[in-house]
Amino acid sequence: MNIKDHIREVPDFPKPGILFYDISTLLMHPAAWRHTVEQLAEAMAPHKPDLLAGIESRGFLVSAPLALKLGCGFIMLRKKGKLPGATVKHSYDLEYGTDTIEIQEGAVQPGQKVVLVDDLLATGGTMAAAAHLIRKVGGVVPAAACIIELTFLNGRSKLDMPVTTLAQYDV
Ligand code: PRP
Ligand code: MG
Repeated sequence: MNIKDHIREVPDFPKPGILFYDISTLLMHPAAWRHTVEQLAEAMAPHKPDLLAGIESRGFLVSAPLALKLGCGFIMLRKKGKLPGATVKHSYDLEYGTDTIEIQEGAVQPGQKVVLVDDLLATGGTMAAAAHLIRKVGGVVPAAACIIELTFLNGRSKLDMPVTTLAQYDV
């Protein structure tokens, strides 16, 4: 089973010159999707996570089934203003402007091992911000998992934990 066979490549999205790697076609194929989740579960199990943290929004698609498979809890790192109750925020720089992610207070107990999960690693800015936020609330980040990695953007250089990706692209 080659996961790349199920990832659609869409030229010029969301902007001219950008090649978009679309997991919609992977989600539509139950055997390929099951294989994807199983591969990530195998890679993350040795890290013995207490929780997975899914990164809004496409990261939720990956983290929810992965948490079930691993038998651990699943928490949401959301864009600003989406989570009810008290939250802890972290703002980070984008190419133009800033973005903010949030977590609910009490979602992570100090010392819990929280594995980060997203669909795609590009510049690494999102994943680095997620790691910062988990640590801010006292969590430990033993590893991160994504389906796709755009290796030419060198997102790993921003990250200080082992990162597992299943499909790497150099363009
Ligand atoms: C995409 C992708 C990752 C992030 C990777 O999310 O799903 O979360 O970008 O980029 P980076 O490594 O350069 O930070 P996007 O912000 O497009 O939102 P979505 O998941 O809600 O579609
Ligand atoms: Mg995303």
